[in-house]
Amino acid sequence: MQEWIHMLPKAELHMHIEGSLEPELMFQLAERNGIELPYASVAELKAHYDFNNLQEFLDIYYLGCDVLRTEADFYDLAWAYLQRAREDHVVHTEIFFDPQSHTDRGIAFETVINGLYRAFKDGESQLGISFHIIACFLRHLPEQAALDLYPEILKHRDKIIGIGLDSSELGHPPEKYLRVFQQAKQDGFKVVAHAGEEGPAEYVRQAIDLLAVDRIDHGNRCLDDEFLTAQIAQKGLALTVCPLSNLKLKVVKDLALHPIKTMLHKGLLATINSDDPAYFGGYINDNFKQLADAVGLSEDEIFTLVENSFKASFLPDDIKSIHLKALNAFG
Ligand code: HPA
Ligand code: ZN
Repeated sequence: MQEWIHMLPKAELHMHIEGSLEPELMFQLAERNGIELPYASVAELKAHYDFNNLQEFLDIYYLGCDVLRTEADFYDLAWAYLQRAREDHVVHTEIFFDPQSHTDRGIAFETVINGLYRAFKDGESQLGISFHIIACFLRHLPEQAALDLYPEILKHRDKIIGIGLDSSELGHPPEKYLRVFQQAKQDGFKVVAHAGEEGPAEYVRQAIDLLAVDRIDHGNRCLDDEFLTAQIAQKGLALTVCPLSNLKLKVVKDLALHPIKTMLHKGLLATINSDDPAYFGGYINDNFKQLADAVGLSEDEIFTLVENSFKASFLPDDIKSIHLKALNAFG
């Protein structure tokens, strides 16, 4: 079964490219850019990858971003992820990046997007992995900061399919970003938001009713509200679920207690994703395999989750059909 999971062609829909920065690459980039890291070795850095909540992770994640300075750095980061994604038989990926975590350090938006885009174009032609890029706003910053950044995103709309909302959830409800999301929707961007990772079901409701999201990132806490859960299932809104992230950030106490089966039983279009694989101990196949072991997923359930990854993607319907047909050859 592990080998079968490994071989299935799949789409990844929730992966922060900055969260794929492996410690070894972090040290290489630090050296290339003449940056002194506050850790003596990879082992010392990894010793800090022990988180009690989302904020403890984010503090380390933003520190790691500091080694990303040049277009080549962003290219190398994305290229490393793509190599790893190919090993896991990812054939389509929709990745997040956090522009403000770079522009606030004085790195030009162009430097970031051009490096990422060039790598993903090369990944498409050389590795056969198609892609979409989603720019996320940092919700711990004021909405005005998002509004100020928005024209940059608009300038690169040929490279960016959608906007998202991430970072510290508690105390930063989706309603805070209403104006910038309305503008993005009006301009034809897809919109997604992290909601219900640590925040309550109410934040998931706001993401749907106020921001009109096309997908919900995480969404675990929607299960606290039966009516909301039924609405999400009825609308066919997808949840991009991240099991190892949920475990490492203590959203679930134990992987065996992960609510993935409940999500499927309630008719939710749930998908499996890696979130920040370099920090949470595994890429997409590790997420599938460890979750399958921990909760005892059947082959049918695993197959449904992989089918959902294509159904919930922002690919056009004809391309989705081609992927679903190819997947069925493994069914
Ligand atoms: N949650 C919120 N923001 C993030 C995450 C996450 O898991 N990863 C990177 N930014
Ligand atoms: Zn995330």
